[in-house]
Amino acid sequence: MQIVRDTNTASRLSQLWRLHNLRIALVPTMGFLHEGHLSLIRLAKRHADRVMVSIFVNPTQFGPNEDLASYPRDFARDEQLCRQEGVDAVFYPTPATMYADDHSTWVNEDSLSSGLCGASRPGHFRGVCTVVLKLFNISGCHLAVFGRKDAQQALIIQRMVRDLNIPVQLLLAPLVREKDGLALSSRNNYLSPDERQNALSIYRGLQEADAKYKAGCRDAEQLIEILRRHISGAGGKIDYISVVSQDSLQAVNRIDSPALLALAAYFGKTRLIDNIFLD
Ligand code: PAJ
Repeated sequence: MQIVRDTNTASRLSQLWRLHNLRIALVPTMGFLHEGHLSLIRLAKRHADRVMVSIFVNPTQFGPNEDLASYPRDFARDEQLCRQEGVDAVFYPTPATMYADDHSTWVNEDSLSSGLCGASRPGHFRGVCTVVLKLFNISGCHLAVFGRKDAQQALIIQRMVRDLNIPVQLLLAPLVREKDGLALSSRNNYLSPDERQNALSIYRGLQEADAKYKAGCRDAEQLIEILRRHISGAGGKIDYISVVSQDSLQAVNRIDSPALLALAAYFGKTRLIDNIFLD
């Protein structure tokens, strides 16, 4: 497995692979890998001849009061996990290699980015789109894998690829949970044992809302209320709970086409996101 730290070496490697007609998959991550990330790598391996994993805590997608400095990092462990999974190359750049001091070009998706996490994290998706397009270009990938854990992010990247005619095929992987239902996230590492226990209210709420939906309830507010009760009851501070259309991410009152029930909530200082599909 190669570890590549600068953009030129990564590009040369992908050119070489392309010269040999090898199909390249990119799995973009911010590291501190867990089973969710590994499921993406496994999916990538099934669809490509070479897999590149990028590990980069992208500063431009963090707001000024967010957790850029404290975001968990453990490259030695990530490297070992990538080796075990049979990854071909890890792209592990420094911020200075990724962003020139006078970097001034950005990718803005204007519609899907405005609600949900975009509303509470201004500029977040601009940072995500910009770094993802850069990673596509550097890696020369034919395909890239994203997780449905970040459902809004996945949809925005699909839109960016369509709108800018980016020649990259996207694969979306299902959300992976712990045995007790907590969605895997590098940020779970911040939770105290008590907070982690309380955070299980998210999954309980989602399950109850899902059961109600499956029993025929199509009223978004009733499903939202179930989640509100679970999360607030466990001491969580709700950022948003929303039922949105799967295509437009616009809020819906009545669910009569495929929808997404999505939320963000704080347990202590940790912001967690989760979602289920209603379709
Ligand atoms: P990160 O949070 O490290 O996630 C990297 C990829 O793993 C994303 O596609 C995310 O959706 C997926 N993922 C995370 N937790 C998951 C889970 N429990 N189940 C399934 N997939 C999961 O998302 C980012 O990094 C960044 O925004 C990035 C796209 C790398 C751009 O900087």
